[in-house]
Amino acid sequence: MNKKNEFPTFPAGCESLLCKHLTKEIFEELKDKKTQNGFALEDAIHSGVVNPDSGIGVYAGDLESYTLFSKLFDPIIQEYHGFSPEDKHKSNLNPNDLDAPNLDPKGEYIVSTRIRVGRNVADLPLGPAITKEQRNEIEKNVSQSLQAMSGNLAGRYYPLKGMNDDIKAALIADHFLFKTGDRFLEAAGLNRNWPEGRGIYHNDEKTFLVWINEEDQLRIISMQMGGNILEVFTRLSSAIQEIEKKVAFSYSEHLGYITSCPTNLGTAMRASVHIKLPKLAQDMTAFKAITDKHFLQIRGIHGEHSESEGGVYDISNKRRLGVTEVECVQDMVNGVKELIAKEKLL
Ligand code: ADP
Ligand code: ARG
Repeated sequence: MNKKNEFPTFPAGCESLLCKHLTKEIFEELKDKKTQNGFALEDAIHSGVVNPDSGIGVYAGDLESYTLFSKLFDPIIQEYHGFSPEDKHKSNLNPNDLDAPNLDPKGEYIVSTRIRVGRNVADLPLGPAITKEQRNEIEKNVSQSLQAMSGNLAGRYYPLKGMNDDIKAALIADHFLFKTGDRFLEAAGLNRNWPEGRGIYHNDEKTFLVWINEEDQLRIISMQMGGNILEVFTRLSSAIQEIEKKVAFSYSEHLGYITSCPTNLGTAMRASVHIKLPKLAQDMTAFKAITDKHFLQIRGIHGEHSESEGGVYDISNKRRLGVTEVECVQDMVNGVKELIAKEKLL
């Protein structure tokens, strides 16, 4: 059992970036520091300490966490994104710059496409350090702004509190809603006061959705069946621009959009397809050689930390910081093109 404010011990074989980069020296230097929101080093590392199977293991409580605890965050950010402290982030949400032809005209491989970005409200703490009142205020303001949207983005907000269990289970099974009780988020303090202040906004077709107050205060999502990646990106891009007219987001020149998990910094974008690759899946070395080459990540079809089912995988961009949104999606497009070509050969 790790004691409060003592250098944590990690089990043998621990591979998280936290256990790799948290030296005793850095721990001693940072352990008594707190951000203006009262967020301490032990809060930042708690999820990775109690979940030694974490890939990363750290969360920020606010924008200041990234500077105050930079001796820990910087090497983690460098290793995950290949982005150094001197680098600057860049943004490009212009769909005209994306080269995304239809990769699967007969609909044999790509089941569905989804692109999301994370956003957090400027000048407020991030989820791990936010108060219940601040969180509820965000829910109120953001859901009101969303309910004023028009055209194909018009929809309704559904609070999680009081949501019928069957409706909730169906929304999760159909990949629209976040799960409850994630242990990584729990240990990061992101599930405090659950389900209060959380919910989902979506249009009738459920092609445009916004999660409120899960890991980030907003997750803006565009998704649809099939492989029309350009259409999904175009919808997302216009939705982001609409929302940005009403809500100011936390952004830094260096780190781009600020998110609670350092893996999401920058564009905060994850562009994915659910894709059938049953033959390639028999040879995970060949599969991984292609995904690594294109900076892609393989997940199961019920989201992060889930398994594949029936040879269907969630393939998405891994890099999000120091690359533009267009480049994030382009990584995914290029890799998926090669994955389909390989599957066809087998
Ligand atoms: P995040 O996208 O926020 O990183 P997850 O990996 O947990 O989080 O995914 C959230 C949900 O989105 C899960 O239900 C997952 O199955 C679903 N999802 C992700 N990509 C796709 C896709 N291309 N098509 C359909 N559903 C998807
Ligand atoms: N904290 C978890 C880990 O380190 C998740 C990291 C990335 N995923 C995320 N949803 N932020 O494994």
